[in-house]
Amino acid sequence: MNQDEMKRRAAQAALDYVEGGIIGVGTGSTVNHFIDLLAGIKGRIDGAVSSSEASTARLTRHGIAVFDLNAVGELSLYVDGADESNHRLQLIKGGGGALTREKIIADASQRFVCIADDSKLVDTLGRFPLPVEVIPMARGHVARQLVKLGGTPVWREGFVTDNGNLILDVRHLSIEDPLAIEQQINAIPGVVTVGLFARRPADVLILGGPDGTKTLT
Ligand code: 5RP
Repeated sequence: MNQDEMKRRAAQAALDYVEGGIIGVGTGSTVNHFIDLLAGIKGRIDGAVSSSEASTARLTRHGIAVFDLNAVGELSLYVDGADESNHRLQLIKGGGGALTREKIIADASQRFVCIADDSKLVDTLGRFPLPVEVIPMARGHVARQLVKLGGTPVWREGFVTDNGNLILDVRHLSIEDPLAIEQQINAIPGVVTVGLFARRPADVLILGGPDGTKTLT
């Protein structure tokens, strides 16, 4: 079984958490499976709040209504993928560059169900380069501050976020204390969002693997 099939398994299992109303929908290849599967039960929900233009387009193609978060308020459920999760369900996200809207929707949701293939579970976060969304004029300044924290930032050249900003992917950070690192990077002027989800981790992690799915809470 390949990685994509394992992602689809996790996405399928997340359908059990869909109870109705308007749900939050993340971004990425795992979520794409979720959106495609959600289309099969779209009569059960009123619509979705989307974390990216890409997911909005996919939801719309399936005839699922997309709402502005401002018009909806708090959500009962958010389903999204991750680049890494530790056993406390603290995450690295933003491989697809949608981290800011993802973090907003996660924070606005009562339950965050994260879906991934089982290769994403790690003991310590940081093997995956940590994405940081920055205001364009602050790119160099933020990069220098990240070096002072021990990281090696690499500008994701040619990529502009849905919010018109840039991404720095930070390697070699030792993320023993994800909450502290999240706060430190958030505090650098020019940083819009750091892709560490430690203050607001997932509530449920569904991992797809060759033998089925495993759920961590
Ligand atoms: C996008 C994300 C994605 O959830 C993350 O990159 C995982 O993607 P995939 O499901 O394609 O492995 O954070 O910003």
